[in-house]
Parts: sequence; C-alpha cells; structure tokens
Amino acid sequence: MKTILITGGAGFIGSHVVRRFVQQHPTSMIINLDALTYAGNLENLKDVEKAHNYAFEKVDIRDAAAVKSCFDKHQPDAVIHLAAESHVDRSIADPLAFVETNVIGTANLLNAAKELWQGAFEGKRFYHISTDEVFGALGAEGFFTEETPYSPNSPYSASKAASDHFVRAYHETYGLPVVLSNCSNNYGPNHFPEKLIPLMIHNILQGKPLPVYGDGKYTRDWLYVEDHAAAIETVFLHGQNGQTYCIGGWNEWKNIDLVHVLCDLMDKNLGHPQGQSRGLITFVKDRPGHDLRYAIDASKIYRELGWKPQETFETGLAKTIEWYLQNEAWLDNVTSGAYQTYYVKQYA
Ligand code: NAD
Ligand code: DAU
Repeated sequence: MKTILITGGAGFIGSHVVRRFVQQHPTSMIINLDALTYAGNLENLKDVEKAHNYAFEKVDIRDAAAVKSCFDKHQPDAVIHLAAESHVDRSIADPLAFVETNVIGTANLLNAAKELWQGAFEGKRFYHISTDEVFGALGAEGFFTEETPYSPNSPYSASKAASDHFVRAYHETYGLPVVLSNCSNNYGPNHFPEKLIPLMIHNILQGKPLPVYGDGKYTRDWLYVEDHAAAIETVFLHGQNGQTYCIGGWNEWKNIDLVHVLCDLMDKNLGHPQGQSRGLITFVKDRPGHDLRYAIDASKIYRELGWKPQETFETGLAKTIEWYLQNEAWLDNVTSGAYQTYYVKQYA
C-alpha cells in the first residue's frame, strides 16, 4: 500500500483532491495534513472521514519539527502539497503570514521529504500545486504557458513564486523527484466566501451589496474545482519529474460580466424578479496592484497527458449554485465569528 500525504486537504481544492484520491485509490493510504486555519474545515470531508484508507493529521507546516514527526510516523511515498495562505486581499493586509506558510512551510516539507527519502527516490514524488498568478498580469492578448517568465505582483503571488523556485531548486540540487502545476481560478462547492464567486452568492442570499473592485473589467479564467482535481490526479500519475504543467479552463470572463451572470442565475433559482440581484452591485475601491488579466494555454497537459476540462461554465456554475443553496448551514458556519471581522475590515 502506497502512502500519499496531501497537505491543505481540509481547504477548498484540497478537500476535492483528498476525496478523489480516497475514492479512486483504495489501495493507497491518504494522509490529510492540515493546520485547520480559518480556511480549513473538516466538514468538507465528512463523507470520506471513516474510509479505511484515510487519516487526518493536524499539523502546521510552519513547524519543521511537527512536519518531520508526521513524515516519520506515516513514511509517505508521495506528497501532494496544497496547503497555503491563498487569498490575495489577505496577503496585502498581512504579507509575512504568506512568507511563513507559503515559503517556509514549503521548504519545511521539501526538507522532510529529502530527509525521509535519503536519495532513494525510485517511486517517490513531491507534487507542488501552484497558481497562474506567479506569471503576473497579461494585457488584452496572449496566454500564460510553461515558458512564461515569473513576474508576481502581490505578496500572495510572490510567496507562491518563491515556493515554486524552492521546489525546482530541490530538484536541481538534490535530485528530489518533483512535479509542479500552475492553475487558473477555481470555483465550485466548498469555496470559502472571501473569493469572488462564493462571496457574491453569499451576499445575494443575504441581500447585501456586491462589491466589484475598480471598473470590473479585470479578467480571470475559471475552472471547475473537480476538473482541477482530475488534472492534479493526472499530473500526479503521469507527469514527468522536473516538469511543470499549466492548467486552465479556456474560460475567460470579465468580473462584471461574470457577476451579471451570477445575479441572473441566482434570481432564477430563488424565484426573484430578474434584475433584483444586479441592483446590489456596488463598485468599490480597487485592489492595489490588481492584475488585469489571467489566461492559460493548457495545451501541454492536453497534448502530453490527455487532460481537458469536463464541465462547461454553464454546468459548473449550475452545480455550484445548487450546492450553496443546499448547504446554507455550511455558509452560515464559515461566515460566523472571525469572518465578520475580516469582512468589515476589507469592505469598510
Ligand atoms: P484554501 O485557502 O481554501 O485552503 C488552504 C488549506 O491550507 C486550508 O485547509 C488551510 O487550513 C491549510 N493551511 C493554511 N496554512 C497552513 C499551515 N501553515 N499549515 C498547514 N495547513 C495550512 O486554498 P485553496 O483555494 O484550496 O488553494 C489550495 C492550493 O491551490 C494553494 O496552494 C493555492 O495557492 C493553489 N491554487 C488555488 C487556486 C484557486 O483558485 N483557489 C488556483 C490555483 C492554485
Ligand atoms: O488565478 C489563480 C488564483 O485565483 C489563486 O491562486 C488564488 O488562490 C485565488 O484566490 C484566485 O485569485 P484571484 O485574486 O483572482 O481571486 P479572487 O476571487 O480574490 O478575485 C477574482 C477577481 O474578482 C479579481 O479580479 C478581484 C475581483 N474581486 C474579488 C473580490 C473578493 C472583486 O471585484 N470583488 C471582490 O469582493
């Protein structure tokens, strides 16, 4: 039985990845290592928590000794690393938290893997999950590819870029068998309502203003989270050591157009008169250093590994909205307490 240690498995993408591996790989032991920050929620994994091949370890990746002892205990053959501070706005308010978790935490994991595997790398793999934000901002034309130079603009993307560089450096210097992927914006169930799509859904349900930054013309490429989880499984199983793979949805939307679509879908689902939710849209102060446009050319992973998204934006958004409407208790739970303080500070 192989042991696969997945970090950040209680978060948004991580929980979908953990579920997929627990269900699709019954002869592998899946260890979910997570510190359970505000973004981590074991409720996300209720349906698999009793599986024979699943275990949870509450560990903070900033704590090198705790990481090492978790590696010693479980002897993982592979690591899939998703744990991170992931929200750009929070990185602007508190950059050092991002250095600590995303840079130092990643280095702690790399060291633990290097020490455990001691150069016997056959059958071992360290897979680092990264973001398209490391490439910076695009103008109206063009796409990010695996060859695009790094040019991060926010403390979040700078910390992810630094972690990517450490992963590559451990491959070049110590021969650690690593693979990386850089993905565009995910959406879907269990997405924490600090990010655009779940924040808009939550505020529509509450009848609260819908804060659109700047002129709303910023563009993102959106991928359904299950499609990302499938891409991660594909890269994990078939990607080449030392390689990176760009993952995207071929699905670009200007924020304001996306918010309009969400408003109309929510009105339809809630039986509101069309146009009611659009009336909540409020243009607010822009995010500092806001990247104009992200877009991914995901042809390498398609050409070499055969992955492409299965959901259209229409089917993905329908599933997402349905999930939030059926899981209002989840939303209430994650938006009580500390979320309120964050929200008031961010949108004052
Ligand atoms: P998330 O914020 O929803 O979840 C992060 C998880 O990491 C949480 O469970 C949290 O408890 C855990 N965590 C945070 N700090 C930790 C620490 N110090 N020690 C241990 N665990 C810790 O994030 P997400 O949106 O699911 O993103 C997961 C990964 O994918 C991140 O590395 C992110 O950079 C990357 N990514 C995200 C997107 C996206 O659109 N959300 C796109 C591309 C890449
Ligand atoms: O591109 C991948 C990245 O996508 C991931 O690496 C990040 O972890 C993830 O958070 C996401 O980053 P973004 O900054 O693109 O996502 P966010 O949902 O915060 O914002 C999406 C767009 O919507 C962006 O242009 C900012 C805008 N926005 C966001 C919020 C929260 C608003 O206009 N209003 C808002 O209230």
